[in-house]
This record gives sequence, structure tokens and C-alpha cells, in this order.
Amino acid sequence: MNQTPVKNHIIAQNIQKLELKSLDQASIREIVLLANNIQNDSGVPFIRMEMGIPGIPAVDEGVKAQINALEAGVASQYPPIEGVPEFKQQSHLFIKNFLNIDIAPQNCIPTVGAMQGTYAAFLTCNQLNQHKDTTLFIDPGFPVQKQQHMVMGHRFESFDVYEHRGDKLKEKLESFLSKGNIHSITYSNPNNPSWICLTEEELEIIGTLADKHDVIVLEDLAYFGMDFRHDYGSANKTPFQPTIANYTDNYVLFISSSKIFSYAGERIGIIAISDKLAKRSYSTLKNKWNISNFGGAIIYRALYSLSSGTSHSAQCAITSILKAVNDKKINFLDNLDEYRHRASVMKSIFLDNGFNMVYDKDLEKEVGDGFYFTISYPNMDGATLLEALLHYGISAITLKNTGSNQEGLRACVSHVNRDQLIVLRERIEQFQSQYRQ
Ligand SMILES: Cc1ncc(COP(=O)(O)O)c(C=O)c1O
Repeated sequence: MNQTPVKNHIIAQNIQKLELKSLDQASIREIVLLANNIQNDSGVPFIRMEMGIPGIPAVDEGVKAQINALEAGVASQYPPIEGVPEFKQQSHLFIKNFLNIDIAPQNCIPTVGAMQGTYAAFLTCNQLNQHKDTTLFIDPGFPVQKQQHMVMGHRFESFDVYEHRGDKLKEKLESFLSKGNIHSITYSNPNNPSWICLTEEELEIIGTLADKHDVIVLEDLAYFGMDFRHDYGSANKTPFQPTIANYTDNYVLFISSSKIFSYAGERIGIIAISDKLAKRSYSTLKNKWNISNFGGAIIYRALYSLSSGTSHSAQCAITSILKAVNDKKINFLDNLDEYRHRASVMKSIFLDNGFNMVYDKDLEKEVGDGFYFTISYPNMDGATLLEALLHYGISAITLKNTGSNQEGLRACVSHVNRDQLIVLRERIEQFQSQYRQ
């Protein structure tokens, strides 16, 4: 083997130190720790592709509004658990402007990140019908949502959508839903990790089957508008970010401020419940939680129990950003274009050097350049590829980690700066000269 930037014994020692049986099973946080430790021991600065965290500064309007709110004294005041009225109004307008969907302000609720939003929704969906105790994940997906199930002791089922795109999705979904145990279907769109986007036809299939089987669709829009193949950034103008809300009334949407406003540190997101679902009554819910309607159960039982609301000043921050976006003072996608640029350069570095894209198409259309992409290398499974790349000072997570059946890695572009792109090319060329067959 040629001399690699990081010596083999440093990799082996650190994998052993963390007692990682397989890199396929290590959590994202464990891979972060592993890369940190190897970086410290070797002195080789790593190209970090494992962390799905923003790589650009928070939207300024938010920071200023949050400071002003704190100075005005909101820190001493419990926030309304339903959300500050102006937060709810601006969330309603944002959803109208960029999804072309009407959801009453009453049903737009702040949560401590989309993470808490999904936790509250899974918790609530599990109380609606005694025969329905299982979530269905359309994978690949965000591993922490499976962890939420593990922590709650809830059941889930899942399948990799890779082989079931287009009208094949119908049969696959039917095979799960017809058993009668599924209370909700969840997926992210654009998808973390694969960056595939479900098509309108696929969303229609999901919506129609959700109605047929009385299942709730939990649509995770953590990367709202970030499919840069289309311009979803103009208020009240086509094209709109695709959504399940066009095809069923049985839905909850999760909008995170972490990526679109680079506001991850303050932990705030929005759950938006369809007006019809929010007021729907469930007798099982009434028996278990002494409240019958879905919207009330989410707010006054789940969210109240979890954190009694969302940080007051963070609500003021996001209100101010949403207002600036709704008033067309800022285009929230402008800053994010940086991710598109980085992805396009990084993908070409890998493709020029023998790698393949794993999730490469939405049916006939190439997947866009954005926050993540997925790669494989001939004759290597995901864990072997990751271990090999660690020798070149490059970290990522395996696709197996995300519920995918495919062998390969998820690469996140957000923490790879433009000045690291040259180093990335050099290291990947060196990798290729070692492994080319
Ligand atoms: C698909 C998906 N959903 C939810 C989240 C979490 O969002 P938040 O930071 O708002 O909790 C992430 C973060 O990476 C994500 O990728």
C-alpha cells in the first residue's frame, strides 16, 4: 500500500478505542468522535463530510431580532406553548407563499427543532388507534428518528425506496399498509441522505393510500426549497415546493429552521398540522390522554410534557426572518446556493476518480446538487470504503446507517470549504491510484 496521509495503526487504534464493531453501525456522533480523534492523533486536517450541520452563518435578521427580544426581557417570560401569535401568523404566510397551502395560524406551532416536532408527532400518532402501533419509514432516512422510536419503545417498519420509485411505490406501500398496523408514514423531501426528491406522481400515490388506509403522513421538510433544480424561492409564485398537502388532508409538515435559515443552534422548527386533522377527534386518544382532538393532543399533551414550549427569543428570531422572507425583503435560498456549488464540484471530483453516485436519479431526472450526495466505489462495501477514506483524511457516514440497502456513503457538503476542494481532489486522486483495478 502507498503511504497514506493517515497511518493505518492510528485508524485501527481509534476504531478499537471507541469499541466500534462495524462502521456501518456507528452513529453519526460516533463517526464525528472517531474523525476528531484520528485528526488529533495524526495531525492531518480532515475533510469532514459526515456532519449534516449548517456551514454558513445564521440569517442576520434572526440574530438581531433575538438580541432585541432578549434585551426587551422575554427571557423571564414563559413563551405561549402554542407559539407567539406573530410567529404563528408568519408561519401561516410562509406556508401559503412557498407551498401554496392554507394552514390556519392556529395549527402552525413552534417546536424545539424539527427533531422535537417529529418526536411529539410519533408519540401522538401512536395513541390514536389501538390496532395501529407502527410507523412506516420510506428510507433512506434520518437515523435519529429511528432512535426516537427506540427511546420511546415504539415499533417501526421501513423499506429502501431505491427499487420502488414511480408507480412501483404503490404496490410496495400497499404491502405494508394493508396489514392495518401502520399509523403514519414518514420521509424527508428533499431526502436526507440521498437527496432524491419524490415526484408529484409519488406524492399522489402516498396521499391516496394514506386516505384509503387512514394513515397520517409526516412530511419532513428539513431541506425546504433546497432542490435547486427548481426555483422555489419566489413568494406566491410557481413552482412551489412539492408537498403531500396537495394530495391528502391527513398530514403534518415539519419545517426546520436549522438548514434553511442556518439557525440550528437555537433549536427551533415549525410543525404545521392540516386544519382537518388538527380538529379530528379520536376516542382512543380521549381515553389515554384525556383530550380528543389531534392538534390539542400535540400541543397540550406531547409538547407541554416535553419542554413546555419553544424558547421565547428563538420564536422572535424566526418570526422576524419569516416576515422578511414573506415581505420579499430576503430570498431565503440565495445564501444556500453555496451548497449547490460545493456539491457540483465535489461530485465531479469523485466521479472523475472511479466513484459512482448511488442514488443518482429521480426516475429519468438526475438528482440535483445540494446538501448531500451518495457515493460508492467498485468492489467495496460501505464500511470498507469509509475505513479506506479515513486513511486519506476524509470522513462520511455509511448508507447502511440510514436504512438504505445500498453499499456506499453519504457525503455532506456543508463543512467542506471552497479552499478544501483542491485538497479533496488530491486525496481522492491518491485514493484512486491506490485502488484502481
Ligand atoms: C431529515 C431531517 N429531519 C430533521 C432534522 C432535524 O432538524 P432540527 O435541527 O430542526 O431538529 C434533520 C437534521 O439534520 C434532518 O436531516
